[in-house]
Amino acid sequence: DPLIVTLDGPAGVGKSTMAKRLARELSIPYLDTGAMFRAVAWRLGDGAWERGDARLTVDLAGMEFSLSGIGEDSVLSLDGVPIGDEVRSEQVAMWASNIAVLPVVRASLKAAQQTLGQRFSLVAEGRDMGSVVFPAARCKFFLDATADERARRRLRQLAGMGKTADFDELREQIARRDHQDRNRAEAPLKPAPDAVIIDTTNLGQEQVFAALVRGIRG
Ligand code: C5P
Repeated sequence: DPLIVTLDGPAGVGKSTMAKRLARELSIPYLDTGAMFRAVAWRLGDGAWERGDARLTVDLAGMEFSLSGIGEDSVLSLDGVPIGDEVRSEQVAMWASNIAVLPVVRASLKAAQQTLGQRFSLVAEGRDMGSVVFPAARCKFFLDATADERARRRLRQLAGMGKTADFDELREQIARRDHQDRNRAEAPLKPAPDAVIIDTTNLGQEQVFAALVRGIRG
């Protein structure tokens, strides 16, 4: 059976950084499910959530995700095209959050995620990996941190991609997106009952990574 490790938590907590490292440690791919929601949102464009289920179902049925590579070299593609930095703005993130409330969108991406999880061992990161998509995962983690610290981390991540943002605006955007993610009816952002919760606010990357490895190796 494929090994599945889930890493959930709010925006900017450092899930992607840790998922890449953990996947490298385990020599398996990591699956960035936020990138799936972002790529679909980017492809559908602004206002997609108002289009109605019938149209969205047809659009989604025509999209296919694939995964290759290991650790930080994992490449997630939509219809054969690697998902790139074009989806990494807070605007596209908000579009993603807006379509992520729709049951038809969630059902379609859940099926795609589970198909990948049957084919590959994965470190799967997102919002509902441990609670909904991979309930039988070997290890489940939920990373948390204060809103201020998450905005700082996201600012640093954007800087690494050569992008700039205003701190207060970024914090406000992340807070709005988290509020929507925590309060939606379907698969709201919350820890699975059997997840290990790690408050990373005052932890450095090495400490978070060590805690994850301890959690897996026991
Ligand atoms: O993780 P990331 O910030 O890239 O995710 C973008 C948005 O996609 C989230 O704010 C959330 O609304 C949605 N998402 C989700 N379920 C996941 C991953 C992401 O609803 N498993």
